[in-house]
Amino acid sequence: MKVRLATIDDARMLFDWRNDPQTRAMSNTQDAVDWESHVTWLQASLECPDRDILIAEVNGPVGTVRRDRNAAGEIGVSMTMAPQARGRKLSGPMMGAATSDPGIYTCGIRADNPASRRGVEHAGFVFIHHEDGMDYFIKERKWQPMTPEQIEEKLKLIDAIEAVRTKNNVNWMNLLRVALRADPEGTLALVREINTKDNEISELFAKLGEAV
Ligand SMILES: CC(C)(COP(=O)(O)OP(=O)(O)OC[C@H]1O[C@@H](n2cnc3c(N)ncnc32)[C@H](O)[C@@H]1OP(=O)(O)O)[C@@H](O)C(=O)NCCC(=O)NCCS
Repeated sequence: MKVRLATIDDARMLFDWRNDPQTRAMSNTQDAVDWESHVTWLQASLECPDRDILIAEVNGPVGTVRRDRNAAGEIGVSMTMAPQARGRKLSGPMMGAATSDPGIYTCGIRADNPASRRGVEHAGFVFIHHEDGMDYFIKERKWQPMTPEQIEEKLKLIDAIEAVRTKNNVNWMNLLRVALRADPEGTLALVREINTKDNEISELFAKLGEAV
């Protein structure tokens, strides 16, 4: 599960998710949002230093998490899974990825939203109190020094990245040879192989960067 910051190019997708009936039913404001208001809201959100709009991706976008830092430094979060990605047990991993950096995270969930509750609990949130039909949860992520075993794990990942990179260098040379012989089909096949290995490298780098 990867999360990235949203851009204005995500406006249409976020608009569709926001206006999905189930999302609206679980939101504080249940009215449909019009396109102009949505774009104004997204533009302001992207410029706001205390807000992050994140997009979670598993072979493409699957959901979004909003993070809002308050004056006390706590980070309020809420999530929406893309309608087509619901029911795949992705909400816990998505919320986990969005709350992996050190900090104190809070969220309020309607008491009649058990899927969201399970999702945040899977991401390490614990229930703190109930008020006016809402359940409130908290999660604290502390900085922890890495153990020698955890450093060893990271070193193994670096070895793995090196190995994949070495293989990819061979692929690049092969691509050059095929191209030199003017074989279009062979060239395309190698481009696909290189792309697969590049994705492998990205995944290994994502694991390397994960907080422990
Ligand atoms: C809430 C939401 C993010 C959950 O994502 P999801 O893809 O539907 O749920 P998941 O597949 O990740 O399942 C999460 C957990 O909830 C459980 N669950 C799902 N639907 C459930 C239901 N109706 N009743 C009880 N548990 C349910 C799943 O079994 C899973 O728990 P488990 O792993 O312990 O078995 C998603 O439904 C959504 O975007 N809803 C609309 C917006 C919303 O409600 N946002 C939350 C506001 S904070």
